Amino acid sequence: HTAYVNGTYLPEAEAKVSIFDRGFLMADGVYEVTSVLDGKLVDFDGHIARLERSLAALDIVKPVTKDELLQIHRELVARNGIDEGLVYLQITRGGAPGDRDFAFPDPGTTPPTLVLFTQSKPGLADNPAAQTGIRIISIDDIRWGRRDIKTVQLLYPSMGKMMAKSAGADDAWMVEDGYVTEGTSNNAYIVQGNQIITRPPSSEILSGITRTAVLRFAEEAQMEVAERKFTLEEAKAADEAFVTSATTFVMPVVQIDDVALGAGTPGPVAQRLRKIYIEESL
Ligand code: PDD
Repeated sequence: HTAYVNGTYLPEAEAKVSIFDRGFLMADGVYEVTSVLDGKLVDFDGHIARLERSLAALDIVKPVTKDELLQIHRELVARNGIDEGLVYLQITRGGAPGDRDFAFPDPGTTPPTLVLFTQSKPGLADNPAAQTGIRIISIDDIRWGRRDIKTVQLLYPSMGKMMAKSAGADDAWMVEDGYVTEGTSNNAYIVQGNQIITRPPSSEILSGITRTAVLRFAEEAQMEVAERKFTLEEAKAADEAFVTSATTFVMPVVQIDDVALGAGTPGPVAQRLRKIYIEESL
C-alpha cells in the first residue's frame, strides 16, 4: 500500500519521519480520520474544517491547501483501491535535527510534517457488532482540558480501551464529576423514551463530525434531541445508548458496567439512526 509523507507517495514500509519530529517527542500534532464508503469520502469538508480549528488552536501552519488535501485523499483511496475503509491524516509541528525544546520552533525555519495513509475496512457499513451492540465500562476521565483539539496525545484513551478489554468489554466511557464526557474514541448518547440525549460541544469533548451529521439526520426525521450533560447513573437507567464516530458510524451500546440496557439488544433509535446515517453517506 501507498502512504503519503510531505509531498511524496511511497510504499508504507518506506514512509518515515525524523526522530526529532515533535509529533514523536511531544505529541505535538493533530489528526483526522475520514471514512470511505463505496470509494467516496464521508464528510470530507467537516473533517477539514475541524482540522483547521485544531491547527489554529495550536498555532501550527497548515502545510497545504484544502484542495490539495482532497487531492491527496482521493489519490490514496484510488491507489490503494479502498472501497470501504479509512483515510488517516496527521500534521505535526515538525522538528529540526538535534532539537528538543519545550518552546515551539519558529515556523519559518521548521516546516510542519504531513502524513496520510489508508486502511481498508470491509464491513464498515455491514458491521456485525452493530447487530449485537457493544458493552462498555466506565472509567474516570483524567485527560487534559482541551479535548476539543484532535491531538495525537491518545495514551489515556488507549489505556481505557485496554481496561475495557481486560474487563471483557468492548470500550469505555469516561466520566467526570459524575457526568459522561465521551467514549475513548467516540461521542456518547443515551435515549430516554423518545429523546436522544448527548453532551453539548465544549472543551471537555471532541465535537464529532459524525455527531453533527447524526443530530442533523435525527432532527430531519422529527426525532427529539436534547443537547445536555447526562450522568453515568442516568445512562445505566436509559432505554438505549449508542456511540458515534467516523470508524463506527452509529454503534448501539447494550451494556454499561454490569447493567444491561433495555432488552440487552440494540435499541430501535440507534438502529434507525445507523441505517439513516449509512444511507445518507453512501
Ligand atoms: N476518533 N471523541 C473522541 C475522543 C474521538 O477520538 C473521536 C474520533 C470522536 C468522534 O469524532 P468523529 O465523529 O469526527 O469521528 C469523539 C477517531 C475516529 C479515532 O481516533 O480513530
